[in-house]
Amino acid sequence: MSMAGSTTNGNGARPAGPLWLLAELTYRCPLHCVFCYNPLDYTAHGAEISTDDWLRVLREGRALGAIQLGFSGGEPLLRDDLEILVAEARALGFYSNLITSGVGLNETRIRAFKEAGLDHIQLSFQDSTRELNDFLSSTRTFELKLKVARLIKEHDYPMVLNVVLHRLNIDHIEEILEMAERLGAEYVELANTQYYGWGFLNRDRLLPTREQLLRADEVTRRFRERIGDRMRIFFVVPDYFEDRPKACMSGWGSVFLTVTPDGTALPCHAARMLPGLAFPSVRDTSLEAIWYESEGFNRYRGDAWMKEPCRTCPEKAKDFGGCRCQAFLLTGDPANADPVCDLSPQHHVVTDAVARARVTGAVTAPIIFRDDRNSRALAEKKAQAASTESSGV
Ligand code: FES
Repeated sequence: MSMAGSTTNGNGARPAGPLWLLAELTYRCPLHCVFCYNPLDYTAHGAEISTDDWLRVLREGRALGAIQLGFSGGEPLLRDDLEILVAEARALGFYSNLITSGVGLNETRIRAFKEAGLDHIQLSFQDSTRELNDFLSSTRTFELKLKVARLIKEHDYPMVLNVVLHRLNIDHIEEILEMAERLGAEYVELANTQYYGWGFLNRDRLLPTREQLLRADEVTRRFRERIGDRMRIFFVVPDYFEDRPKACMSGWGSVFLTVTPDGTALPCHAARMLPGLAFPSVRDTSLEAIWYESEGFNRYRGDAWMKEPCRTCPEKAKDFGGCRCQAFLLTGDPANADPVCDLSPQHHVVTDAVARARVTGAVTAPIIFRDDRNSRALAEKKAQAASTESSGV
């Protein structure tokens, strides 16, 4: 494993430790959501790390200073050691959050989580209607999610609903908010699709129009006025519609540390696709060495790596040049400015995508569901492309 040997943030100072640890426990998932941010070739990744490995990751993460811990996936409930990990998280003093589709959460397990000290459960819905919820996830899970929502309330957890928004469900926003109100949600996260992984693959089918967004924003504003403090609603506009990029991950290698199911440590959930970058595994490297010394975590720390227009931009300390993964996906070079920025010479790739979304019927590509068969086909395609490239054909 290549380690850069650097212990600075690229500007000479030693970086602070991470605050957030995201434990992606498994890529296995009973749902097949079309906007999933997991890698397209997740089936080609290595075996899941063991309970002991995860326990060590939690200890090392806490020792580095991480305080927030997310259990995510795939569906984290598919790991039957989750209760053990939750108990360890509590003993270490983490604030722990289970990010779940709800599938696999029953009375027995929620009692066990409560007892073990889980702080927070975030339940996802795909839509307010059974038809669309079940279509988008390619499962019959709507009724089950309603049951799980009630279970979460009964066990005195704050009700945190997450609904990923896109072209196909954004016009249901009022009904989604009404459903959340009926379920007694304290928080609703209306998370516009992030275009990575399967979301990027299906982007042209998922990107809403500007008119849809404006309407959704207005409906949310009116709903907020009516409901007041009883339910907090977070509505984040997709960055494709902005002219400045998001400060992705609050800066590379600055706050977030993700560990994937096979133990690869990443500065963000999507970083593994970036070319020419080695990311260590927690199987053979300590989190401390990964965080401070690995090439993968140091490459885009600070601003020494930046090119123009970011290098001399007065806003670089605010947005860090945007998202490295998006810069790669949309321009082919992770060191370019995120093209969401209207100062980027490649900004047109974003505005073109938004313009295409306006033309009804312009996109006829089929929706591709996140499932093992599609993942294997995409992994094979990627492997073939790599071998063609290396043989120079
Ligand atoms: Fe990887 Fe933004 S998602 S840097």
